[in-house]
Amino acid sequence: MQKITIAVDGYSSTGKSTIAKQLAKALEYIYVDTGAMYRAVTLFAMRNGFIGADGQNTSALVQLLPKAHLKFKYNEEMGYSEMYLNGENVEKEIRSLAVSQQVSKVSAIEEVRYKLVDMQKEIGKEKGIVMDGRDIGTVVFPDAELKIFMTASPETRAFRRYKELLGKGEKVSYSEVLKNVQERDYLDSHREFSPLRRAADAIKFDNSDMGLEEQFERIYNYALRVI
Ligand code: C5P
Repeated sequence: MQKITIAVDGYSSTGKSTIAKQLAKALEYIYVDTGAMYRAVTLFAMRNGFIGADGQNTSALVQLLPKAHLKFKYNEEMGYSEMYLNGENVEKEIRSLAVSQQVSKVSAIEEVRYKLVDMQKEIGKEKGIVMDGRDIGTVVFPDAELKIFMTASPETRAFRRYKELLGKGEKVSYSEVLKNVQERDYLDSHREFSPLRRAADAIKFDNSDMGLEEQFERIYNYALRVI
């Protein structure tokens, strides 16, 4: 069987990573969550005081960017890769609402995108990869053999994320999460550099009324048709 590149893009909290992870497992491919990379750089910026409620210092962040070392390490027990920032496992912290509230500003910075897109191209150069994000089918792997663009209503997505955050013990309200989802949608699709948009050859996949099993089955079948 030939190995292909699978790009899964779409709006925040559409369940991209859940499906992409399952798909990678079934095909014995590598799974890469590019959102985790943007989140880790955001955490780096927050810890260094370059971004926060009072604004952002983009040039200071860009200057210190080479000191942000990102690495995915496979967690055998959990069966997936976790994000490490300068040697520290930051998997939990990067998923917090505090990071979600800043990440779209950091991911709009051109230099941040250059650094991360280069890393993503390198990780995926041998194919046999499922990568999820916002610009995988348009910028990182425009020649990907299979491109999926996931959507769902903002309310459905916010409710999913709200339950997920509550499950992790974060004290958040549904309206806060909905506001964050809508803000990220807007910023991600209106930024100057590689905005979120569907590649012309991507399959539009609305999962508002679909359970996980059905989603997986459909996307797995798309993949089998290409492989
Ligand atoms: O996928 P996730 O919701 O974790 O991504 C967090 C944020 O990272 C997005 O809202 C977006 O601002 C940014 N991102 C991006 N390009 C990607 C992946 C994520 O700009 N390829």
